Amino acid sequence: MSAQFNTNSLTSLTTDKPTTFRKQRSFSDRVGIGFLVVTFVAIILGLAIGIPLSKRDTNSGGGGGGAPQSSELQRAKQLLTANPLIDGHNDLPWQFRQYANNSVYSVNLGQDMRNTWNNETWMDDTSFPRIPSQTDIPRLRTGKVGGQFWAVFVSCASVEKDAVRLGLDQTDVIHKFVDKYDDFKLATTAQGITDAFNDGKIASLIGLEGGHMIGNSLGALRMYYRMGVRYMTLTHSCDVEWADSVKADTRSPPSNKGLTEFGKKVVKEMNRLGMIVDLSHTSEQTQKDALGVTQAPVIFSHSSAYALCNHARNVKDEVLQLTKQNNGLVMINFYKGYIDCAPTNTSGNISTVADHIDHVKNLVGVDYVGIGADYDGVPELVEGLEDVSTYPYLFEELIRRGWTDADLIKLAGGNLLRVFRDVEAVKNSLSNLNPIEDIMERSLRNENCTTGY
Ligand SMILES: *[C@@H]1O[C@H](CO)[C@@H](O)[C@H](O)[C@H]1NC(C)=O
Ligand SMILES: *[C@@H]1O[C@H](CO)[C@@H](O)[C@H](O)[C@H]1NC(C)=O
Ligand SMILES: *[C@@H]1O[C@H](CO)[C@@H](O)[C@H](O)[C@H]1NC(C)=O
Ligand SMILES: *[C@@H]1O[C@H](CO)[C@@H](O)[C@H](O)[C@H]1NC(C)=O
Repeated sequence: MSAQFNTNSLTSLTTDKPTTFRKQRSFSDRVGIGFLVVTFVAIILGLAIGIPLSKRDTNSGGGGGGAPQSSELQRAKQLLTANPLIDGHNDLPWQFRQYANNSVYSVNLGQDMRNTWNNETWMDDTSFPRIPSQTDIPRLRTGKVGGQFWAVFVSCASVEKDAVRLGLDQTDVIHKFVDKYDDFKLATTAQGITDAFNDGKIASLIGLEGGHMIGNSLGALRMYYRMGVRYMTLTHSCDVEWADSVKADTRSPPSNKGLTEFGKKVVKEMNRLGMIVDLSHTSEQTQKDALGVTQAPVIFSHSSAYALCNHARNVKDEVLQLTKQNNGLVMINFYKGYIDCAPTNTSGNISTVADHIDHVKNLVGVDYVGIGADYDGVPELVEGLEDVSTYPYLFEELIRRGWTDADLIKLAGGNLLRVFRDVEAVKNSLSNLNPIEDIMERSLRNENCTTGY
């Protein structure tokens, strides 16, 4: 990976008080209400004179390419002010571990963080890219982010070591920063997302990025649910005893066990709990096994289209078809390495990300595509989508391509809300079932790192 790092070394960590952000919040609330009023008045005027917003904007937008505030960009911002943009994956919590020893109260997310975190960290584990911050509250507000799944990520170096404890730590980090800033509100239901959004907050959800953090235990899985976790990525980019990861697809000689019997129980228990099954990072066989056993829709929280960029982390057309049958969702990743590769070898920019989104839309339909940019988790973003402030430019591009408001609203967050509601409905339909009490196949247990009971 050829990453460009900002190596400015401004390491001073400032202490801040939550009251600062209460003030900011009420200001942004007022601005938010202002936008709603403006949007409402614009719609009423549009209706009154018989010109739909979409038509008017298309007429006035021709030739505006490159203008900082094209009519398409203005429309994109209006849309995302009135409808939640819900991103599937952001690794800010791991940045706290890398750069601040998980100290939330020594960091001010209310300021521009670009130059606060640099490439210097005391951590020995170098398995994760060290990147300047791509996320802070001002930039989330500029980017019109209405809901965010924050990733509980711990690296594969902790597999069969302290992954469960590290997962608890990172879950705690999310709860700490959600509690600290009034701009955030914890959401654990689909309704909770819309309530937080309507209240002017950034709905904050928790996703567990890797089955290694449940330590082969359904009891631990259930406890993560109780801590607010609402999706689990079955694996990160390393296998767990009960599920193969993307690594299996590139292994030579090929071997791919997919999900074991216990792995299928994990998926069933997630259905019963109402935890979304996330298939990003898993192997193709694991994806097919999970899609075969799940009763609820699944997501790929941060993966792009394999047909346009043949990286093993992207979703193949065949699996896109299965995801449609499952009524699930693929949330497109903005990492340059997943956008810009063979066979298309595009340059990795806003329009090539839009190509990935259009590919899913054209192949299976607009109901199955969303956004999971992977900010703060990747070293190099495509040109023009470098941090969380840039989402409106992607919507500007899609508006130029003729996307309707209804379709843009689905892409932004409507599809994720549908999937989440379906997952909740499956949970309700399974409420008569007891917790699954199976233990993992004994033959798969690594005796060197467990106590044997
Ligand atoms: C950042 O640090 C890592 C680990 O020490 C190193 O491998 C990498 O080259 C550094 N990157 C830059 C841009 O300095
Ligand atoms: C984090 O802890 C390590 C080990 O105690 C220490 O060397 C480092 O200075 C700390 N970093 C920060 C940002 O507090
Ligand atoms: C894309 O790159 C691959 C690998 O370098 C190459 O084999 C292929 O021909 C390229 N395709 C196009 C359309 O340029
Ligand atoms: C994005 O990349 C494509 C393909 O390489 C190129 O044709 C297009 O002009 C680029 N668009 C922008 C906005 O830079």
